[in-house]
Amino acid sequence: MNRIVVANWKMNPQSQKEAEVLFKESYSLAKNIKNTKIILCPPFPFLFVSKKFKNKNISLGSQNVSTKTEGSYTGEVSPKMLKDMGVSYTIVGHGESRRLGETNEIINQKILNLLKYKLTPILCVGESVRDANGSFLLLVEEQIKKSLIGVSGAQMKNIIVAYEPIWAIGKNATREATKEEFMEMKIFIKKVVSDIYTPKIAHSIIIIYGGSVNPLNTRSFIQDGGADGLLVGRDSINPKKFGAVLSALN
Ligand code: PGA
Repeated sequence: MNRIVVANWKMNPQSQKEAEVLFKESYSLAKNIKNTKIILCPPFPFLFVSKKFKNKNISLGSQNVSTKTEGSYTGEVSPKMLKDMGVSYTIVGHGESRRLGETNEIINQKILNLLKYKLTPILCVGESVRDANGSFLLLVEEQIKKSLIGVSGAQMKNIIVAYEPIWAIGKNATREATKEEFMEMKIFIKKVVSDIYTPKIAHSIIIIYGGSVNPLNTRSFIQDGGADGLLVGRDSINPKKFGAVLSALN
């Protein structure tokens, strides 16, 4: 099976020129990579820039989408617009977006909107703290259940779930997760999905890890932790490090 590497550029870079360089370098890194699907997720304005490049290993993703379809919604971007730009995947429920007010209900509406237009949601779930009582598991369960209201079993097969503990994400990360923590959560997520749908669907879903992924921990999450892929933030905008992450997969 193809592994998945999602490159989340977040609110970087700051100019079209820099974005072009980053696309160019990412595309050239992808040339020698096998059995891996790379999903580049630039900020909205730079989706357009990617039209210059082509590589079968690379797909385009966005970092957000509207809950609405079209019309008078200032500042919103519809799934149709994204599709027209060549986008196939969209990140929803990222910890950084939840912090800015994206609730499970909003995430659910975005997922339904994406599925309607055959875009693949990358649903991020994860707790901000781990408590000794394990109530963080209930929080992740709630995130999954509320986000998937109205999603059919057939549609569920087209959703990628990213386990992204908030404490492991970005510059303020306290540490990266361990492969054991990922493995535990992967089993837990499958159990929750199995309860909502069927064991067969739970077995088939794609679960990736995100949070301080770097060239040194890549192998451990994939080979030992059994992750189907990775969501890379900081190291995806540093071509040297991103190249090293991709090489560690091979
Ligand atoms: P990071 O970000 O790799 O910089 O921790 C991960 C993410 O976007 O969730």
